[in-house]
Amino acid sequence: MRKIDPQQVFDTPCKPSGLKGPESCCKGRPPSASSCMGTDFLQEMAGDVLSGMTGSVKSIPSKYLYDAYGSSLFDRICTLPEYYLTRTELEILERNAHRIMEFFTKGEGSLVEIGSGSDLKIRSLLKGLSRQGASQVRYVPVDISETSLLRSAHRLLSDFPWLSINAVAADFTRGIRHLPDGPKLIAFLGGTFGNFTHEQGVDLLKGFARSMNGRDRMLLGIDMLKPPGIIEAAYNDRSGVTAEFNRNILRHVNSKLRADFRPDDFEHLAFFDPNKEQVEMHLKARLQIRTHISEAGLSVCLKPGETILTEISRKFSRDRAMACFDQAGLVPVRWFSDADAWFSLVELAARAG
Ligand SMILES: C[S@@+](CC[C@H](N)C(=O)[O-])C[C@H]1O[C@@H](n2cnc3c(N)ncnc32)[C@H](O)[C@@H]1O
Repeated sequence: MRKIDPQQVFDTPCKPSGLKGPESCCKGRPPSASSCMGTDFLQEMAGDVLSGMTGSVKSIPSKYLYDAYGSSLFDRICTLPEYYLTRTELEILERNAHRIMEFFTKGEGSLVEIGSGSDLKIRSLLKGLSRQGASQVRYVPVDISETSLLRSAHRLLSDFPWLSINAVAADFTRGIRHLPDGPKLIAFLGGTFGNFTHEQGVDLLKGFARSMNGRDRMLLGIDMLKPPGIIEAAYNDRSGVTAEFNRNILRHVNSKLRADFRPDDFEHLAFFDPNKEQVEMHLKARLQIRTHISEAGLSVCLKPGETILTEISRKFSRDRAMACFDQAGLVPVRWFSDADAWFSLVELAARAG
């Protein structure tokens, strides 16, 4: 897997884009939007797929699960009975929104959401704002999936018409230049942090830590270790939505990189590895497969039973999470959890000095 260059997290130039949201979503003022994902995106995707599919374990980075269809499938996953993550994190957010959003009573600031996805969770935080806080907050969602980003921003504006929104379409592992300068609360929710290896995750957090001043905070969602049966069920739902989501990565590669994968030739495979303390999601070839990925200039062969790794999802103990924070130069200020300690929201500050 590609190593993340933490320096680049905030250094790649962004250009204002002509992004337009679905007009019908919001009759009022549109959100301002900018994109860091020009023509380079296809080249980067081709490079990522080339290196992933020629590695010793074939893989495609999980961020390519999310095109417009992938994002809509993920939204459906969040409503499934087996997927405890969303409802547990939402419950913690709702219970603690007032305390978390006190951040904005101290003066103007930005609520930056990394990998924002749907507007479900941020709504509960916005509802926790005091009247004074509401007048001082600016919302900056950042996501790789432009359609989903804009749809969520328009939906939010129709329900929170006073809110100032600056939506940024960007790959946060490559560069988000215009993270706001002033005070900011960076929300990184949904367990997305668990999609990175320990080294990648620490590099990513280091990049955020470097951008944080004394008053800034990060609100990080992490999924905790729990009985493996509960974890595995969340990634193997009975209605097959996660399997469809997993196979969508191949549709995305087909459409962007002119490849000829047949998604139905692959079986969805998701299991918890107790040694690595992570879920691995794979696509397993049902038969001998030969495919060509034109934009990557690559022909690939898979034997029956061979797999493509599409996502890891790490599960944390407190100690393991603390080791990541410590190595990244972050210190926990408050730790919010549910009664079963299945999920944690950790408020972090940059370590002084
Ligand atoms: C697991 S979902 C979580 C969504 C939402 N935060 C939640 O809590 O439900 C991951 C989100 O991060 C976005 N994402 C994944 N990798 C990304 C990347 N490298 N850059 C920007 N967005 C990314 C996806 O499009 C998706 O919306």
